[in-house]
Amino acid sequence: MNFDLKTYLKEQQDVVNKHLDNILLQFNNQNQLIQAMAHSLMAGGKRLRPILTMAAALACKKEYSPALPAACAIEMIHTYSLIHDDLPAMDDDDLRRGLPTCHNKFGESTAILAGDALLTHAFNILAEPQILFNKYPDIQKRLQLIAKISKAAGIKGMVQGQILDMQADQGENLSEHSKLKHLEKIHTLKTGKMIIVSVEAGALSVGADQKLIDKLNIYAGKIGLAFQVADDILNIEGDPVKMGKAAGSDIINNKMTFPGIIGLDESKKYANNLIDDAIKAISRFDESAQPLRSIARYIINRDH
Ligand code: IPE
Ligand code: IPE
Ligand code: MG
Ligand code: MG
Repeated sequence: MNFDLKTYLKEQQDVVNKHLDNILLQFNNQNQLIQAMAHSLMAGGKRLRPILTMAAALACKKEYSPALPAACAIEMIHTYSLIHDDLPAMDDDDLRRGLPTCHNKFGESTAILAGDALLTHAFNILAEPQILFNKYPDIQKRLQLIAKISKAAGIKGMVQGQILDMQADQGENLSEHSKLKHLEKIHTLKTGKMIIVSVEAGALSVGADQKLIDKLNIYAGKIGLAFQVADDILNIEGDPVKMGKAAGSDIINNKMTFPGIIGLDESKKYANNLIDDAIKAISRFDESAQPLRSIARYIINRDH
């Protein structure tokens, strides 16, 4: 199959953006809360997580439409996490997705509430997809999605990773091995869990067999970790204009990162190996898994 990743990503981004727009259009856009939500949600993120959701559905059942509610909900949760991550009390960043951060544009209280609203409404979309979507999973599957996604985003997932990230210093007294283990844990929680559930939600939305889901979970665990290693590398080598966010901040904020512990070259090798393993895990899938294979490479070769 002649597969062009760039074209595929653009098409899928357009699909996600159209549905996210429809979600916001249900509300009065003169309202400041909605404006703040739209500012961050429609600012042009890569839409990697929802695209993974759709690609996983395609790989399992050759259609992605029933996965769209979960795809949109996950992107809303991700965007909420970015708004809160950028707040002065957390990373204190001024630029996100090429625009002023939500709190810079709308003030801290509105930004906090815009994040809250995105998170809360994401679960409404999962519970009541019939309001906006033509195809959606049955009620049993929706309950499963709500359970999985709330776990991945919450106390044993992204939020836990964020608090460990906030607490982590350079771990001066730890051995290199212990530092790496600790950092792997932070990265898996703060970024990996949401990426894993993005893939799993796609498979669940179309009712995939558990055997396929097990393979996809291995794939997703590897790309999830590789994604955050690539983010650490980009924070050193990346062009802030292309990334639409600051570079160099990890060093300034004394963050524990892969390049900080094992160096840039070893970090790149490590990420490459993770991607090789991820692609191996889905080697038995047919050509409808081509998007998943290409996205895996893109995760470490991206420039933003
Ligand atoms: C940035 O995520 C935050 C991390 C988890 C590293 P993305 O790099 O996917 O950001 P967007 O969604 O494209 O803006
Ligand atoms: C963001 O991680 C992770 C989440 C929002 C969960 P970082 O703080 O490392 O990412 P950037 O550099 O702000 O995108
Ligand atoms: Mg952070
Ligand atoms: Mg940050």
